[in-house]
Formats: sequence, C-alpha cells, structure tokens
Amino acid sequence: MRFHVRLCMPGDEQALALVGQAAFLESFAGVLRGTDILAHCASQHTPAIYRAWLELASARVWIVEMEPAAAPVGYLVLAPAHLPVANPRSDDLEIKRIYLLHRFQGSGLGRRLMTEAVQHARRAGCRRLLLGVYGHNDQAIAFYEHVGFRHVGERRFRVGDSTYDDVILGLDLCEREET
Ligand SMILES: CC(C)(COP(=O)(O)OP(=O)(O)OC[C@H]1O[C@@H](n2cnc3c(N)ncnc32)[C@H](O)[C@@H]1OP(=O)(O)O)[C@@H](O)C(=O)NCCC(=O)NCCS
Repeated sequence: MRFHVRLCMPGDEQALALVGQAAFLESFAGVLRGTDILAHCASQHTPAIYRAWLELASARVWIVEMEPAAAPVGYLVLAPAHLPVANPRSDDLEIKRIYLLHRFQGSGLGRRLMTEAVQHARRAGCRRLLLGVYGHNDQAIAFYEHVGFRHVGERRFRVGDSTYDDVILGLDLCEREET
C-alpha cells in the first residue's frame, strides 16, 4: 500500500469530516456510550469545524491519502493550544486530532503525520506540543510516549452527554531534535 501525506486547504473539509467521524466511531465503539459517540460526531466532526481550522492562519492540517486515487484515510490537526496546563505558553501548539482508519494503523503513518507537525512547529518557533487524550486510550498513549510525549496534566472532556477523564501530554521541542 502506498500513501501520500499532504497539507490540507479549504475544500478538504468534507474528507476530514468523513474520516474524523469514521475513525472516532471505530476507535470508541464499545468504549464510550454509543449515543455520546453519535452526538460528538454530529457536533464536533462537521465540515464547518474542519473548514474553520483550514481558514485559521495559525493552524495546519495534514491528510493521508491512499494511492492510487487519493482516498482519504487519516489526518492530523495542529492549532494554537487551549489546554488547562499549569504553565501555558503563548507559543504552545496543540495536536487537536490525529486519526487513522483502523485498517491503516500501525504502518508508520502516525509517525509520518507527527513528523510533519513537529517540523512545522519547530519552523514556527514553537517550543512545546501539547495534546489531550482519553485516559484509557492506552494504544494512543503508548504511541505518544513512544515518540517522546510525557504527562503534563489532566482535563475533563465532554463527549455527548458524558464527561471523561483525559490526560494532557507534552513534547518539549527544545530538548529533542528528532521525533
Ligand atoms: C494513534 C495513531 C495515530 C498512531 O498511528 P499509527 O500509524 O498506528 O502508528 P505508527 O505505525 O506510525 O507508529 C509509530 C511508532 O510508534 C510505535 N507505536 C505505535 N503504537 C504503539 C503502541 N501501542 N505501543 C508502543 N509503541 C507504539 C510504533 O512501533 C512506531 O515505532 P517506530 O517508528 O519507532 O518503529 C493511530 O493508531 C490511530 O489513529 N489510532 C486511533 C485513533 C486515536 O486513538 N487517535 C488519538 C486520539 S487522541
């Protein structure tokens, strides 16, 4: 299988919303309440939400497309951080979302997306990447820790009608040259 990773632009919001909804359902079916998953996808994975990130000068979105024919299978959203950490910095960037459809996980694509985000963050003068992840998402947490993220805090995260415990992880870009 061959894949192409590219920077998104306005017009990509439908593809991002489709992959976002599918990947969220795949990832959390049997983990979160079904009604919460549906409500979250209907409100947080809309084309309008992705369009707003695509139009935000300080945000970047990368998409993974399968070759040939460029079907979308994953993406990463990077934007200014809004997380309740003890020492927020004005130049913190946040990985808002990173998702691959289940069939395409474990093939190095998460690493490729993360490398794009880290390279962009360094060029932009950002000293720290942050992200929030469901505290029981052991697979994603292991991936983040493997690429260098460390625990920096917690938050409560609303999904539909329920509130879940997230951990906040940070990657210090001053200390690391490679991800
Ligand atoms: C989390 C996710 C983005 C990781 O992407 P991926 O393509 O599966 O990961 P990769 O194949 O690129 O792995 C990159 C590295 O992390 C390591 N890694 C991946 N998952 C790991 C795990 N569970 N435990 C330990 N190491 C892991 C790989 O071995 C690889 O190491 P290497 O590059 O040194 O050889 C992807 O699995 C995913 O979309 N998961 C479901 C959605 C999700 O939970 N997203 C996060 C929501 S906050």
